[in-house]
Amino acid sequence: MLTFDKKLLPTVVTAIGPKGGISKTTTISNLAGLLADLGKKVLVIDTDKQQSLSRQFLDIANEPYLPDGTSSERTEAPGNTTGLGEILYRGGIVHKEDIRPSIRGGIDVIVSNIGDEHIHWLKERMDAFSMFIRIISSDLIVGHYDYVLIDTQGSVNVIGKNAGVASDVILSPLPPNQLDVGTFIADAPRIWDEIDRTCEMINRKPPRVCVVYSKANFRLVNDQVMRQVIEPFIQASPRMELLNTVIPPSTIYTQATAMRVPVHLVDGSTKTGSPYDVMHQLMFELFPDLQDQWTGEPVANGTGVGDAA
Ligand SMILES: Nc1ncnc2c1ncn2[C@@H]1O[C@H](COP(=O)(O)OP(=O)(O)OP(=O)(O)O)[C@@H](O)[C@H]1O
Ligand SMILES: [Mg+2]
Repeated sequence: MLTFDKKLLPTVVTAIGPKGGISKTTTISNLAGLLADLGKKVLVIDTDKQQSLSRQFLDIANEPYLPDGTSSERTEAPGNTTGLGEILYRGGIVHKEDIRPSIRGGIDVIVSNIGDEHIHWLKERMDAFSMFIRIISSDLIVGHYDYVLIDTQGSVNVIGKNAGVASDVILSPLPPNQLDVGTFIADAPRIWDEIDRTCEMINRKPPRVCVVYSKANFRLVNDQVMRQVIEPFIQASPRMELLNTVIPPSTIYTQATAMRVPVHLVDGSTKTGSPYDVMHQLMFELFPDLQDQWTGEPVANGTGVGDAA
């Protein structure tokens, strides 16, 4: 059995939610940017066939082999450019060419080049549960990255669940509106149960499940009402932790995505509730150990858009 020096293992965080459009990609890409600016080595893995996270960090618009997100068919990769699709078909074995430097210093990327056929294929595999464990145990990753951040698709599929099994933390953003709260209450516990049962089966510590309010404005009556619905539900579950951090709705998050710059760098304000403050709060709640290492100033590790590593 393989054993690792625990200090070398990356911390693995997967954004999972039972519904699309809840801020998974936005949160993962901003966390990646902040961790990198604090001097951490970050690997992001995109598992969504829409490739939002891949496009956030790589100039892939002109790469013909990547499906456009509406196609279910993946065409062959030319040359040696590969991604998650090839890794899965190799049974979770990562090759050097699967990991690409991103447009931001300190962040590397495994692109999503998967289609529906990968999902169907994985569903039939007896060892599906171990795919992401194998990926994060790769000797190209252990000792090379402090954090692995995984983005998943809108509705949870076999890839999302097995990424969850390999994680230390599941981050589940939740906008406090009727639709998102309703879907969360109906579906989230079943997803955590499935992940927990798999972890139990393979004797692996189940991930911490952290719910964070996203696009939440508790000055609005609707959001307050939804808070009264969801909080007792989460508190009654021993498997979920509601973070104190609240990500408010702000066009700065959308602007940051369009500019492909982490949100903490887009808005200079450090005051309470600013994207800079909110993303720091989120990072410290997820990784309390980082608080001791923080000098109060971000380290300028990210070399900015266009400076490929
Ligand atoms: N705090 C925020 N304030 C305002 N808009 C936001 C915020 N967070 C995310 N958004 C916007 O909401 C939309 C959905 O966000 P995002 O793509 O991150 O969600 P997702 O959960 O990854 O969606 P999908 O399931 O489709 O992958 C995007 O247009 C994004 O810019
Ligand atoms: Mg997304």
